[in-house]
Amino acid sequence: MIEAENVRKTYRIGKVDVQALRGVSLQVAKGEFVTIVGPSGSGKSTLFYILGGLTHADTGHVIIDGVNFTAMSDSDRTRLRRSKIGFVFQKFNLLPTLTAEGNIEIARDIGGHPDGAAQRERVQRITQLLGIEKRLDHRPAEMSGGEQQRVALARALVNEPAIVLADEPTGNLDSENSEIVLKMLRQSNQELGQTVLMITHNPEAATYGDRIIHMRDGQIVPPERDPQWSHAHD
Ligand SMILES: Nc1ncnc2c1ncn2[C@@H]1O[C@H](COP(=O)(O)OP(=O)(O)O)[C@@H](O)[C@H]1O
Ligand SMILES: [Mg+2]
Repeated sequence: MIEAENVRKTYRIGKVDVQALRGVSLQVAKGEFVTIVGPSGSGKSTLFYILGGLTHADTGHVIIDGVNFTAMSDSDRTRLRRSKIGFVFQKFNLLPTLTAEGNIEIARDIGGHPDGAAQRERVQRITQLLGIEKRLDHRPAEMSGGEQQRVALARALVNEPAIVLADEPTGNLDSENSEIVLKMLRQSNQELGQTVLMITHNPEAATYGDRIIHMRDGQIVPPERDPQWSHAHD
């Protein structure tokens, strides 16, 4: 479902080159829930943006559901992204001027599912599952972080995307909200057969997935070369 081959990315800051990804290859099968762990600066977010088609790789390619993402025009890639991928970010990224309901509905509309009874029911179901049905008329500034992330998750899942990409979705949450978010990702993965790729710093969160990928210095490494991880399990 998700395939990356020899992806490289270098950022240039002034005269300094930062090699964020040094040849990353991975495969995630349909319906798999994979977590990516690794120290800060190891290239996790860069990989997330490239796999989601939000950033270009310098070399290598990304294949999403059999389609070469890298070779597409920007507009085709945007269309594919909107129909197939739901994104969850550490800092929620909700539109501040819209209510919770507005944020979810705009994602639903952009995903090609305009307003209708069935679609309204879908919004209702997901907001109830996430326990935010009483917050629908609140704007992001009027909600707690946990509530905002639950709205962001509803936004990501409302179109039942084939793929969910999450970058440290519990990074700014307390343990109670973290558990709600992780359980929802797991449930959605199991019920809808969604492919989930989740980046996390939290070893406990990493165990929600079927498989853990370790990153270090812009590369995928075996678990024993990830000291942070071995330490967490001492
Ligand atoms: N937009 C950017 N411009 C310049 N350097 C960046 C940018 N984004 C990330 N980097 C650098 O690339 C490396 C990998 O960053 P990142 O992918 O964010 O890692 P992680 O998510 O694992 O913390 C780091 O050294 C970071 O400073
Ligand atoms: Mg990051």
